[in-house]
Amino acid sequence: MKVSNTSANTSENTSATNTADSAADPACYAVFGNPIAQSKSPDIHLMFAAQTDQNIHYSKILVEVDQFVTAADKFFGEGGQGLNITMPFKLDAYNYAHELSDRARTAGAVNTLAKQSDGVIIGDNTDGIGMVSDITQRLGWVVRDRRVLVLGAGGAVRGVLLPLIEQAPKSLLVANRTASKAEDLAQKLADYGELSACGYEQLDGSQFDVIINGTSASLGGALPALPASCIHSKTCVYDMVYSKTSTPFLDWSGDQGATQLSDGLGMLVGQAAESFFIWRKVRPEVAPVLAFLQEQA
Ligand code: ATR
Repeated sequence: MKVSNTSANTSENTSATNTADSAADPACYAVFGNPIAQSKSPDIHLMFAAQTDQNIHYSKILVEVDQFVTAADKFFGEGGQGLNITMPFKLDAYNYAHELSDRARTAGAVNTLAKQSDGVIIGDNTDGIGMVSDITQRLGWVVRDRRVLVLGAGGAVRGVLLPLIEQAPKSLLVANRTASKAEDLAQKLADYGELSACGYEQLDGSQFDVIINGTSASLGGALPALPASCIHSKTCVYDMVYSKTSTPFLDWSGDQGATQLSDGLGMLVGQAAESFFIWRKVRPEVAPVLAFLQEQA
């Protein structure tokens, strides 16, 4: 396990059973990923901790791709209390957890591990709730009773479908370049609520109130081949990725007349807030942290 860019390494003699609330003994958390240098998680969690007066230590840890279990065992063995998990380890974390939340199970991925006082490690997934709270609370967009379209059928989309279903949209459609993958997803989630699936070409002529891009297309500067008919001037468009400027999908949506556009920076802070709540049982404020990150961008 390599530790990169940490303010201090995980303490060798921190006990897993201590209360870790005294000034001398902060509770240890970290994010595992590869790459990890770009991660904003330490900044976010340390801002949450300052806000809520929590004594924590948070590091970012670069884990070799085949070393997840060794690194996690070491972290928890040395007294670590919780981990955030980013690419490419969300499935490893899913398999590592002793118990899974419903949202982790439906997502098939874990982004938060929390060690309980009895030693049991719970796996959760806060990505979806982070996105839904960003959309409904910060942006004030309505999902309930609206026609919602989600683009993509990879891990990012799997993580957000259950929290979206729970918002009771009028319809929820997953569209993917490879239609069969969207159909598989819809089948897997059929027990949780109404969800349909299709390829992009079948969207021609349909309109939506909320469109969420969960493909990785933006990361490569590409666009999902969505028919322009899907967007009207009141369509709210969300891209799960974030970037210093705009994203190709948000630019394209704006060109089609959409005025309510957001990237996924608020989702990043929202999922972190939910992880922080799982670990510390205190709900931090998202807005000032998001404002700080937006200023930095
Ligand atoms: P992640 O875990 O980030 O979701 P993933 O599991 O590799 O990554 O999934 C990537 C998603 O982005 C898939 O839905 C993929 O579509 P396919 O299943 O058809 O491959 C989608 N995607 C990637 N590049 C795309 C592009 N240029 N246009 C449309 N969809 C794209």
